[in-house]
Amino acid sequence: MIDRGYYGEFGGAFLPEILVATFDELVEEFQKAKNDPSFWEEYTEIMSTYSCRPTPLTFAENLTKHFGGARIYIKREDLNHTGAHKANNVMGQGLLVKRMGKTRVIAETGAGQHGGATATMAAKFGFKCTIYMGEVDVERQRPNVFWMERLGAEVIPVREGTRILKDAINEAFRDWVTNMDNTHYVLGTACGPHPFPEMVSYFQSIIGTEARKQILDREGRLPTRVYACVGGGSNAMGIFSGFFDDPVELVGVEAAGRGLNSGQHATRLSSKDASIGVAQGYKTYFLQDQDGQMKETHSVAAGLDYVGVSPILSNLRESGRVRFEAATDREVVDALSLTIKKEGLIPALESAHAFVQVFKEAPTLSKDDIILINQSGRGDKDIFTVADAFADPGWQEFIKKKAEGYRHA
Ligand SMILES: Cc1ncc(COP(=O)(O)O)c(C=O)c1O
Repeated sequence: MIDRGYYGEFGGAFLPEILVATFDELVEEFQKAKNDPSFWEEYTEIMSTYSCRPTPLTFAENLTKHFGGARIYIKREDLNHTGAHKANNVMGQGLLVKRMGKTRVIAETGAGQHGGATATMAAKFGFKCTIYMGEVDVERQRPNVFWMERLGAEVIPVREGTRILKDAINEAFRDWVTNMDNTHYVLGTACGPHPFPEMVSYFQSIIGTEARKQILDREGRLPTRVYACVGGGSNAMGIFSGFFDDPVELVGVEAAGRGLNSGQHATRLSSKDASIGVAQGYKTYFLQDQDGQMKETHSVAAGLDYVGVSPILSNLRESGRVRFEAATDREVVDALSLTIKKEGLIPALESAHAFVQVFKEAPTLSKDDIILINQSGRGDKDIFTVADAFADPGWQEFIKKKAEGYRHA
């Protein structure tokens, strides 16, 4: 009997009959790999030679001084190859695909980070690759689309529904149902049917394992609180998992978008707007209406703009082990600006959500407290969104000239 991956009442695998055998094979291969010490060795070896593991822990000295409270440390997942924690998951799944003997990978992407990471992994391992991306996200993240195509991936803009991440996931599942013999779906976050929440969290746990050791080496004690942004939940699961058994408070930060009362946000666990349901093959909190139709979501950060959330995190909220908060677009842009100026770091808009909450709480803690933030990715990809938010005149002129150049070409 194969375990169907429940976390309290959340999780499971609600699958069309046609995909059951494919999932059974995946569960079995994943369990085998997990029980084989050489698999984790191969994984850490490739992450240390092809990506940048262990990623460093940076003491944010200037921010610490600025807020005058807890000592702030930043786990630098932005230094991974392809610029985000997504690399941890895709390289792990890539190694599994090799074990399963499949030759093609597909993926959904929101911010483009996961798509870019999957296309990179496919190039490295020699797999064919198709990426599904909502048309709205294609517009928001054009540079990532450019690179995915250069890496040899076919990028398919999804014009169904609200044309964002959830629609891309639906299309990826449709593809998988037709091509499961040779294709693996590299799901990008700790959501979806079992075994994805467990499997993605397993690969991302490398973040927490490293961070725990690094902070103990550096400070000789554990942090008081650990903060991570929450889209689907994979970077949060990654860093939190290093501290589940410790007396450390874990804080997940969701996207409050244009404000919790605006109806334009993506808070599933930090507000009362979401309810429990089954969609996309698993049971969790979804932003849905009374008929179970998915609501529109909004965030300045494409990677947090999702209706569902990891079933593992839903369960951790119910048990009270993780506290959930939310940051608005405006707060995020301000926190990003401060971090750039004070530390010379450019976090992704997604990661900047965690910084917002830290900036609210650091001054209320003592100088003996330690705060750890997961900087899940780097912000280069956000240049268009951020430049718009700052209404940067030089940038606006540059874009105008580019557009005119195209018209005259
Ligand atoms: C940099 C970055 N951080 C965070 C996320 C959110 O995903 P998750 O909650 O799975 O970590 C994304 C998603 O694309 C991302 O690109």
